[in-house]
Amino acid sequence: MISNDPLLQPYQLKHLTLKNRVMSTSHEPAYSEDGMPKERYRLYHAEKAKGGMALTMTAGSAIVSRDSPAAFGNLHVYDDRIVPWLAELADACHEHDCKVMIQITHLGRRTGWNKADWLPVLSASPVREPAHRAFPKTIEEWDIERIVADYAAAAQRCQAAGLDGIEFESYGHLMDGFWSPATNHRDDDFGGSLDNRLRFTDMVLDAVRTAVGEKFVVGIRMVADEDFEKGLPKEEGVEIARRLANSGKVDFLNIIRGSIETDAALTKVIPVTGMRSSPHLDFAGEVRAATKFPTFHAARISDVATARHAIATGKLDMVGMTRAHIADPHIIRKVMEGREHEIRPCVGATYCLDRIYEGGEALCVHNAATGREATIPHIIAKSEGPKKKVVVVGAGAGGLEAARVAAERGHQVTVLEASSQAGGQVRLATQNPRRKELIGIIDWRLAELDRLGVEIRYDTWAEKDDVLALAPDVVIVATGGMPQNPPLTTGDNLVTSSWDIMAGSVKPAENVLLYDDNGGHQGMGAAELIANSGSKLELVSPERFFAPEMGGLNHVPYMRAFHEKGVTVTINTRLRSVRREGNQLIAELASDFADGWRGERRVDQVVVEHGTAPLDDLYLSLKPLSKNGGAVDYERLVSGGDIFPQRNPEGGFVMFRIGDAVASRNIHAAIYDGIRFGIRI
Ligand SMILES: Cc1cc2nc3c(=O)[nH]c(=O)nc-3n(C[C@H](O)[C@H](O)[C@H](O)COP(=O)(O)O)c2cc1C
Ligand code: SF4
Repeated sequence: MISNDPLLQPYQLKHLTLKNRVMSTSHEPAYSEDGMPKERYRLYHAEKAKGGMALTMTAGSAIVSRDSPAAFGNLHVYDDRIVPWLAELADACHEHDCKVMIQITHLGRRTGWNKADWLPVLSASPVREPAHRAFPKTIEEWDIERIVADYAAAAQRCQAAGLDGIEFESYGHLMDGFWSPATNHRDDDFGGSLDNRLRFTDMVLDAVRTAVGEKFVVGIRMVADEDFEKGLPKEEGVEIARRLANSGKVDFLNIIRGSIETDAALTKVIPVTGMRSSPHLDFAGEVRAATKFPTFHAARISDVATARHAIATGKLDMVGMTRAHIADPHIIRKVMEGREHEIRPCVGATYCLDRIYEGGEALCVHNAATGREATIPHIIAKSEGPKKKVVVVGAGAGGLEAARVAAERGHQVTVLEASSQAGGQVRLATQNPRRKELIGIIDWRLAELDRLGVEIRYDTWAEKDDVLALAPDVVIVATGGMPQNPPLTTGDNLVTSSWDIMAGSVKPAENVLLYDDNGGHQGMGAAELIANSGSKLELVSPERFFAPEMGGLNHVPYMRAFHEKGVTVTINTRLRSVRREGNQLIAELASDFADGWRGERRVDQVVVEHGTAPLDDLYLSLKPLSKNGGAVDYERLVSGGDIFPQRNPEGGFVMFRIGDAVASRNIHAAIYDGIRFGIRI
């Protein structure tokens, strides 16, 4: 049956027929190995192709020149060795009729000089980019000649690999560095008038077209309004879009609004949870109207309804749902099969992006299969063995994931939950109204468990006998943890836990000191609530900068609240003890750096965050009765085989624990445990 869903209509881009209107915009997941897109990279994109997407823009900022060293695992498109790897990736996606392009760039000042070949960083003018901190040299004529040739050679490599096209990255990098009055202070042929500021772009376009010919698709992901005082204004940005559209040298525009030179600015381009949905969609639509040219765009269009609206109202030709596909690579397939309600939602946690800026690889906070396609499936296969009775204790994120996976395997699953609601620490985190969307992590799993016929027994504090009464073949202990105090010399009984603040069981006092000796969202969430309640707050951290377990983009809204509410932040300082003096508390502070240094604060309340201690009583009581004594064979977990060793022939069931029931970690760790152990039962 032919669908009338606007999202599912084909789109003709030059000679290419894109089978629907949904794409993944370019993003570097940092899965590259030596700058090459090997198996992990290929499987990641192939999964989206399998899921029905029409176009995947691979790489993120693949680098065309050596003096644009990788900032976050970028692909080396300056190296001939990339051609066969790209060809394999393209073939894997083409098999599913998904078109494949790649974003290429010279990072300009958005990288560091102390990487790769230690070559100087350059830019149109020597204006430092705050995020990467390099002081760029002014690009010279021999650099321009060299880099223009590099672009052309890189484009040829992409064409040779059988890709369907390329796009230039032109926001925050070298190319638009020439466009922006903020970064181009030149008075030669490359500065001043718009013609001059576009000269480098024209040279690149001419060289690339000469290299790849007319037929190859060449687009540009471009800023059309830098949206800050000294930046490229909207009028000039739209004029650039018009000129590029009329040049006959590009085939599509992929529209960006904003600047990326600081973390705070970047969150406006890539909004995180709690920020507006699709904030620049109307603007992209304006550019499309002004240019009448193929227009692509992505920025927090996370749900199918908004994406459909973007196409139906003619704002876009292709809609980017990039993080949405990191969360669920099978969105289109589910839409086509009438299973839209089964789409795993992107909750905007931006764990994915924050990890790459911290030197890690992109991982979705609640889809542990993404980026691990070689070992963890997105679609869970039914077990070929006997149907087992599985009891999961705890309905937090990890327990629900384990239950979902076990049920998908075809087992009979019962979940026992002590409280009256599922969600555990995720639900606690959503008490911060700004992060309420995270409840999607829980709600999606609850809906899946409902679909799979899993029974959840709430208000059930499971003891050993309750579990044994269910005669389980497998017991999964996902009981989580309870908050613990940081080490204090005295005053354990005087402090309030961040959980009590989050849960609302203790109100913030007038004058509060919050000591975060964990470093993640837990302490920050409590701090944001306290600050927003009107209390006077000092945040104290023993770290060199606060909340180091949280990345730069997630840092932004907390810091915004802290500035707006006048929160004092004190780093490099430990809480040593707390004592009562009259109606108040004295927090004694110490330093790792200066022995004997002491500070004091007189406050009404001391709130502490130091992670959790596992709630392991049930696990310890069941352990002697289990076949495997709670053990997991880590070697086999990684390389294959039965992961539950036989340690007790008398044992009646296999048992393992996951998430914070093992040790204080995070949502992704709990969910990863849930699926990687779950697929082995
Ligand atoms: C892990 C990650 C890496 C990214 N790297 C790039 C990049 O190299 N180049 C680029 O143009 N955009 C990059 N982006 C931005 C995305 O293309 C997209 O614009 C952004 O995620 C907003 O769209 P979404 O809300 O649909 O995810 C990256 C995004 C993520 C999540
Ligand atoms: S980590 Fe968060 S923002 Fe990133 S894909 Fe997953 S749900 Fe979306």
